[in-house]
Amino acid sequence: MSMVPVNEPLLSNQELEYVTECVRTGWISSAGKFIEEFEKKWSTYCGMQYGVAVTNGTAALELAVRCLDLEPGDEIILPTFTIISCAQAVIYNGGVPVLVDSDPRTWCMDVSKVESRITSRTRAIMPVHIYGHPVDMDPLLALAKKYNLSIIEDAAEVHGAEYLAGRNGLKPNWKRCGGIGDISTFSFYANKLITTGEGGMLLTNNSSYAEKLRSLRNLCFQPERRFYHREIGSNFRLTNMQAAIGLAQIERIDKIIARKRWMGKAYTERLQNIPGLQLPVEESWARQVYWMYGVVLDEDHGMDAFEFARRLKKEEIDTRPFFLGMHEQPVFLDRGLFKGENYPVAVRLAQQGLYIPSGLALSERQLEKVCEVVRKVLQ
Ligand SMILES: Cc1ncc(COP(=O)(O)O)c(C=O)c1O
Repeated sequence: MSMVPVNEPLLSNQELEYVTECVRTGWISSAGKFIEEFEKKWSTYCGMQYGVAVTNGTAALELAVRCLDLEPGDEIILPTFTIISCAQAVIYNGGVPVLVDSDPRTWCMDVSKVESRITSRTRAIMPVHIYGHPVDMDPLLALAKKYNLSIIEDAAEVHGAEYLAGRNGLKPNWKRCGGIGDISTFSFYANKLITTGEGGMLLTNNSSYAEKLRSLRNLCFQPERRFYHREIGSNFRLTNMQAAIGLAQIERIDKIIARKRWMGKAYTERLQNIPGLQLPVEESWARQVYWMYGVVLDEDHGMDAFEFARRLKKEEIDTRPFFLGMHEQPVFLDRGLFKGENYPVAVRLAQQGLYIPSGLALSERQLEKVCEVVRKVLQ
């Protein structure tokens, strides 16, 4: 067997048929029926009223923060353990990212650490659902209410994951991730459960945010007069061809999620007895989708994730390292941000964590090989 790739997208004839329709009819740019259908289907699926498709998840985050009209120096609280897109969206908009450490079980932001980071300048909290597992949202919603803050929910990695909201009250109910905050953002990059190659979307129930987002993604053209502008916007338009690909996948999302959950459970069954190897969890209030199957190696093994990755690669298993925390990024330290701040859980995750092959095209044979090699390398 050759190298087991960390991710391979799984595309079907339906994508081909829809894209062919774009090519045949000439609707290849950012107008066309697939865009609207894609926005409508995805927002409905996630339980939100409005969807605004954009070029990628990074652009979605930038526009989500833009909606809040930050004053220079306003703060947004986010996890240190995430992709740089989150922190830079705050900085691009003149704000200050304020960090919290990760929960050692779910690797998502530790929600018990958020309140102590709230100041008079705090405007929003940006929870990021990590590697397929939801953030515990209820405590954040309570803080948002108490301090009048917005919630920007980054759901790039959790398409279709669910969260049991209100579980301490009388009416607990399951909600889809990306359907909980004031604004949520998605990425449809090729390694995501739903992919458009490159792509993203914002969801909201707020009609004025939706209107503003539509304008901002399209250079703030005015409806009353073309080439007349009152605001600076961006060209973050998704194409009809990309939306066509995404739409085809939404139509089979239940199968996609079932496949991911099969993979997650199969890995856990086979790897759970290896001492000193932490595996993904599924909290009782969460239905996770195993976007990427992460593992965290105990220091007792005498190696970090980079050495572990090298040994796996030698045996033809491809992996990717975990995120490096925002407080360890030279680009921010050079700007005087996060000086002297320490987030030990995130530091450990960055040193000891990686994810193993998790794509939708992963076969049972490949999965067995990954488990065999992991076991061999750690014995
Ligand atoms: C949590 C999270 N947010 C945002 C992004 C950015 O998305 P994109 O790569 O589409 O810009 C990613 C990318 O994978 C991500 O993992």
